[in-house]
Amino acid sequence: MNRQLLKFMQKPQLYEPSSNKFWNDEHISKGMLEAHLNKEWEAATRKYDFVINSVEWISTIAPPSQKNKLLDLGCGPGIYAELFKHKGYDVTGVDFSERSINYAIESAKKENLDITYICQDYLELDLEEKFDLITLIYCDFGVLSDINRQLLLKKIYSMLKHDGVLILDVFTPFEHEGKKECKNWNYFSNGGFWCEKPYGCLEAFYKYESNTILNQSIVLTDDEVKCYNIWEHMFTCDELLSELKAAGNWNVEFYSNIIGEKYINNSKTLCVVARKEI
Ligand SMILES: C[S@@+](CC[C@H](N)C(=O)[O-])C[C@H]1O[C@@H](n2cnc3c(N)ncnc32)[C@H](O)[C@@H]1O
Repeated sequence: MNRQLLKFMQKPQLYEPSSNKFWNDEHISKGMLEAHLNKEWEAATRKYDFVINSVEWISTIAPPSQKNKLLDLGCGPGIYAELFKHKGYDVTGVDFSERSINYAIESAKKENLDITYICQDYLELDLEEKFDLITLIYCDFGVLSDINRQLLLKKIYSMLKHDGVLILDVFTPFEHEGKKECKNWNYFSNGGFWCEKPYGCLEAFYKYESNTILNQSIVLTDDEVKCYNIWEHMFTCDELLSELKAAGNWNVEFYSNIIGEKYINNSKTLCVVARKEI
């Protein structure tokens, strides 16, 4: 165990994966579902007021009367999916968290909403159907490695109809501007976010070249050590544009965020509306 701990304590290679599942961990996924459902938290999803504004804006940019078939990637427990359905879209939601998808299915049943949910890794999605609109919301694109981002963009391009629209948001380098690499230890005597048992947690913040950061949590219990690596790549408009262009032809507009505010240079987030061109 000491050897493993020592290994985790060294700065990881770029995009080194976690040692254990994050979104599908029995304990962590309970906390993440709670975070998703709390309308005041800015954690697994954004605050509910923002979510509402976001759905309003998306429905003006790509109205359900014209862009009806919507695919929401990383849909979580269906918060956006249900609002999209109420707006009049024909909605399919994809997420690999079993707890979130089970919640989403139950909630849609209760609300009598006809939404299709698929429990799958979106990197492995292989659907015959084509969509008018694909969304990937709350900066999830940036957690993927360069290779997986390109793989996902090509997949999205192939799943969009001609003139279909992709809307996604990412963080920009201003999100962590001025922040230095750091580490700190904490002990949780009654358990906490990472584990239900007492545990120690070494949190580390690392910076890498080309606008990538790592938030790492090494979780130590009496019988094991786990390492969670949460990567975040941050984008400028030019970089996001060049990744999109490598996957296909697009007509692109940038905004500061996914509620459609005008793009400003020092915004911490960036939202792209990319229309597929053939
Ligand atoms: C930060 S949450 C955002 C959820 C939702 N888009 C929102 O804004 O409310 C990220 C979601 O993406 C899902 N997710 C992350 N990577 C995924 C992947 N490769 N395939 C499918 N779902 C994924 C997680 O399970 C989680 O529900």
